[in-house]
This record gives sequence, C-alpha cells and structure tokens, in this order.
Amino acid sequence: MTSLEMRPLRAVDLAEAAALCQREIAYLPFSEAILKDRILDDPDFDPDLNPTVWQGDRLVGLACGAPPSEELETAGGVKLFAVASDLRRQGIATRLFDHIEDRLAGLGAGESVAIIAGNNRFMQGLDLRYTEALCFLEARGYERAGDGMDMDVDLRNTPLDTSEKEEELERDHGLRVRRVTMDDYQQAWDYVAREFEYPSALATAPVGRRWAYLATSGLKLDPPTLWMAEKDAEFCGFAVTDVAAPERLGPMGVSPEVRQLGVGTVLLKRALADLRDRGADIGVIYGAGPYAFYARTVNATINAVFWRLRKPLPE
Ligand SMILES: CC(C)(COP(=O)(O)OP(=O)(O)OC[C@H]1O[C@@H](n2cnc3c(N)ncnc32)[C@H](O)[C@@H]1OP(=O)(O)O)[C@@H](O)C(=O)NCCC(=O)NCCS
Repeated sequence: MTSLEMRPLRAVDLAEAAALCQREIAYLPFSEAILKDRILDDPDFDPDLNPTVWQGDRLVGLACGAPPSEELETAGGVKLFAVASDLRRQGIATRLFDHIEDRLAGLGAGESVAIIAGNNRFMQGLDLRYTEALCFLEARGYERAGDGMDMDVDLRNTPLDTSEKEEELERDHGLRVRRVTMDDYQQAWDYVAREFEYPSALATAPVGRRWAYLATSGLKLDPPTLWMAEKDAEFCGFAVTDVAAPERLGPMGVSPEVRQLGVGTVLLKRALADLRDRGADIGVIYGAGPYAFYARTVNATINAVFWRLRKPLPE
C-alpha cells in the first residue's frame, strides 16, 4: 500500500474533501461551498487544526478542528471528521485526532469538544446515528457532556401565515416583525449580545456573543435571513436561518418582557416561510431547546438526537 502522508487542508482540496464527506457522512449536505463556509470562512480557521491524510493523490481522511474563542464564546475541539471506508480501523482517525488534540493543548485549551466546536459548525454534537464515530470518540476518552436535538417541520402542510397575528401585535402592543438588513447590523449585534448573555431561559451558559455572531451572519446572505421583532425602535426578539448549520433555523429568542404574546411564533413562522419560499420542503430547527414550543406552534417532530462530547486535555 502507498504510504500515508498528513498535511493541512488547503482551499484547492475542498472539492475532494466534499466528495469524501458525501461518501462517508450520511444525513448532512456537503459541497465545496458548504465546506468553504463552515471551515475556511470560520473567523478562527487554523490550517494546522485541519489535517488531511493522503494516499498518493487520493484524500483518505480529514478532521476539522477549531480553537477555543473567548470572544465568540465557542469551545475548541473537532467539528467534522471522516476516513475512507476501505481504510478504516488502521489508525487514520487516531493520527488526525492526536494531531488536533496536541495542537489544542499547545494553544492552552483545557478540553476538546466534539462535534460542537468552532464558530461555523456542522452539528450541535454528535448525531447518534454515526455509530462508528461514537465508538471511536468514546474509545479516545470523550464523554457525554450534554445533548440536543433537531426537529423537522413539514413546510408544505403547516400553516405559516402570520398576517392576522402581526396586525394584532402592532395594534395592541406596538410590536412589528421584519426582515432586517446590513443597515441594522450594529443594533442587531448589540441587542442579541446583551439580551442573551446571561442569565437566559434558553441556555445554561452565556451565549450572547455567539448568538450575536450567528444572527449577524444572516445579514451577509442574499437575501438576509435575520428576522427581528421591534417595539419603539428597539429590538425585542430575533430568529435566523442558514447560519448555525446549512439550511437550519436557529438560534432564535424573544426578550422576557414581550414573551407570551405570540412574538416567537411570528418570528418562527416568518423564518420558516422564507425557507419554504426558497424551495425547502422540510424546515429543520437546529438545536431545538424548548421542543414543546416548536411542537405546538408548527407541529415540529424530533428528527435527530445529538450528544455533546468532551475530553479533558493534558496541561
Ligand atoms: C469514525 C471514523 C472516522 C473512525 O476512523 P478510523 O480511521 O477507522 O479510526 P481508527 O482506526 O483510528 O480507530 C481507533 C479506535 O477507535 C475505535 N473504533 C473506531 N471505529 C470503530 C468501530 N466501527 N467500532 C468500534 N470501535 C471503533 C476502536 O477503539 C479503534 O481502535 P481498534 O481498531 O484498535 O479497536 C470512521 O469510522 C468514519 O469515517 N466514519 C464515518 C464518518 C463519521 O461518522 N463522522 C462523524 C460525523 S462528523
């Protein structure tokens, strides 16, 4: 067998990387554009945390790591990995992870998390359907640290019209929901970073700056995918799609003082209707925290369960 060589991922490798991921990782869409967005365009992209293994000029394994970021409140760890099916159980993933974990420890990271690392992610933990990956991670010392779920919404058969409710919100409460644009960038960032920093009913750890990063990432898309609720020219709720993971809805949040009025439902339905109008049949809610809210408002059903895994790294 030709010997194996390890080197950092380069932009020119993306087509081959997408092909490997399409073959080896079910349940997720992969393309060059998606990999560029999730890996190379992550503000903390570090080529040395993205090793690839080659057999001659054939890409046979890759793992994508990300450093911890205090600024954007993200943990360091691994966000994607795959090995060609004919070369499994030969230690390729072990080599890739040894490299990433050594480098993370060298950067001062106290832990490595899977598969919820970095700013631009693919998943919010390991989808439990990836059985071999779970076996591999547990054998490497990763332990379950939490869980999450995605939910599906049938966009063709779920009523998503909000016009009546929006009229009522405006008339009775002076509340409006609208798609925002780059002109609203700073105000949107400031609102989300402040409002969801801590304490938050939706999260056990501060998420304000991470959610602000995600919300405003929606402003860079065409058309923008960020929806905001506002009252007296101040924002009081948001929902965003296509940023936490490709073609997913989330995060979203409503300020405590305007909860229970239906603002969250309007934000959710406007964002889902937009996904539908751009061609999706199923809307996926990413990291559905309050799952009963999504089940009741849009008949969402759980489609995948994720474990967040964590491994302490040596000092
Ligand atoms: C998970 C994956 C990357 C492992 O790659 P690999 O190169 O075969 O892993 P290694 O050879 O380094 O395995 C090291 C150890 O992990 C454990 N392990 C790996 N695959 C396993 C399996 N199928 N069943 C049980 N244990 C397994 C074993 O302890 C193994 O050591 P051993 O072979 O001496 O028993 C590979 O199965 C894969 O590409 N799966 C599809 C991609 C995927 O699901 N990615 C996750 C989503 S991002």
